Amino acid sequence: MKANCWIRPNHLEVQEVPEPKILNSRDAIVRITTTAICGSDLHLLDGYVPAMRKGDILGHEFMGEVVELGPGVKNLKVGDRVVVPFPIACGACNACVNEMYSLCENSNPHAGFAEKLLGYPTSGVFGYSHLTGGFAGGQAEYARVPFADVGPLKIENDDLSDEKVLFLSDILPTGYMGAEMCDIKPGDVIAIWGAGPVGQFAAASAFLLGAERVIVIDRFPYRLKMAAENTGAETINYEEITNVREALKQMTGGRGPDACIDAVGLEAHHHSLPIYTYDKAKQFARNESDRPYALRQAILACRNGGTVSVVGVYGGFIDKFPMGAVMNRSLTIKSGQCHVHRYMKPLLERIEKGELDPTFIITHRMSLDETPKGYDIFKHKQDECMKVVLSPN
Ligand SMILES: NC(=O)c1ccc[n+]([C@@H]2O[C@H](COP(=O)([O-])OP(=O)(O)OC[C@H]3O[C@@H](n4cnc5c(N)ncnc54)[C@H](O)[C@@H]3O)[C@@H](O)[C@H]2O)c1
Ligand SMILES: [Zn+2]
Ligand SMILES: [Zn+2]
Repeated sequence: MKANCWIRPNHLEVQEVPEPKILNSRDAIVRITTTAICGSDLHLLDGYVPAMRKGDILGHEFMGEVVELGPGVKNLKVGDRVVVPFPIACGACNACVNEMYSLCENSNPHAGFAEKLLGYPTSGVFGYSHLTGGFAGGQAEYARVPFADVGPLKIENDDLSDEKVLFLSDILPTGYMGAEMCDIKPGDVIAIWGAGPVGQFAAASAFLLGAERVIVIDRFPYRLKMAAENTGAETINYEEITNVREALKQMTGGRGPDACIDAVGLEAHHHSLPIYTYDKAKQFARNESDRPYALRQAILACRNGGTVSVVGVYGGFIDKFPMGAVMNRSLTIKSGQCHVHRYMKPLLERIEKGELDPTFIITHRMSLDETPKGYDIFKHKQDECMKVVLSPN
């Protein structure tokens, strides 16, 4: 079969690879009908997530048709149409029972490796390095789905296109969880760094959860425009002003946003070239793993006693973390790889009711063969790219 493989940093190839096989009784094989490229994939492409190996198959946002099942999967049948959540979760461990699926204690075969870097291991994830288990991903014609009796969400309504439900695999729940972690109360103002797909869905979700105002911060006018037109958010282009915190202060009566969402992560950009170069050099020399500009700003801009919700991905260690602001101003930081399973059904219901239509972010549709080109366009934000959706067939 064909699959998009990581070869080395900034080099991907669509290669012919062996088809996956059932290895365990709770496995399913899914023939992929639609898949996508995520902002998290860019961190792999750029070589910032350790433990990638030549030939690893990328992709963790995918859906398709069940073509084979292990004997332990009783709730699915061959021919079912499913969306697959990106974390792999057993459904029975302490983390899963507490609905913390991206922390499943049974799904990461390389747990010892993750433990060394992070203190304790996290769950397995499709196509996301050997730190999260080395599982083959979904930018391919087929994928093996472990614990298929727990993760895949069956789509029974044939009126829902793949594009309407695909993002239940990751970014829609992630944006929603980013907003949910803000514990939004009526009248709240939520600021969101990053107007990528995750930021767009965080903005839409913040309004659904009762925010009065949402302010999205980025530097790409087409992304800010999409947020304004599709979610109703106000916007700040940080390249057009001198100080984001000052701008937010002015927009919030001098108090600051009630909660701030970081939907940028470890490859943040800074509009001051010397500062940007300093952190890029440190990152290149592996003196820090992540560039935390958006996170620092989110912490410093948040009102006293507010919440900073971090859904942007971080890999390791950061410089100049403003702990003084967190401690002295009673801030709460919440974070996590999304516990996708928790949100799939409720968000599917919202899509079916017409409360959410996630298709507005799709700007590019390509074949699997064109995946490396899709990464390139998405990474460099060319051609007003927001989200690339791929069809293997
Ligand atoms: N927690 C999770 O489970 C989860 C799931 C999916 C994605 N993510 C992460 O969410 C983040 C966003 O993903 P995406 O798909 O939207 O990616 P994306 O690359 O399309 O969007 C990131 C946006 O951040 C903007 N940005 C960069 N520096 C900034 C700064 N200093 N201030 C404000 N905006 C800035 C960029 O211009 C870009 O528009 C990534 O880190 C990704 O890994 C996390
Ligand atoms: Zn993702
Ligand atoms: Zn588990």
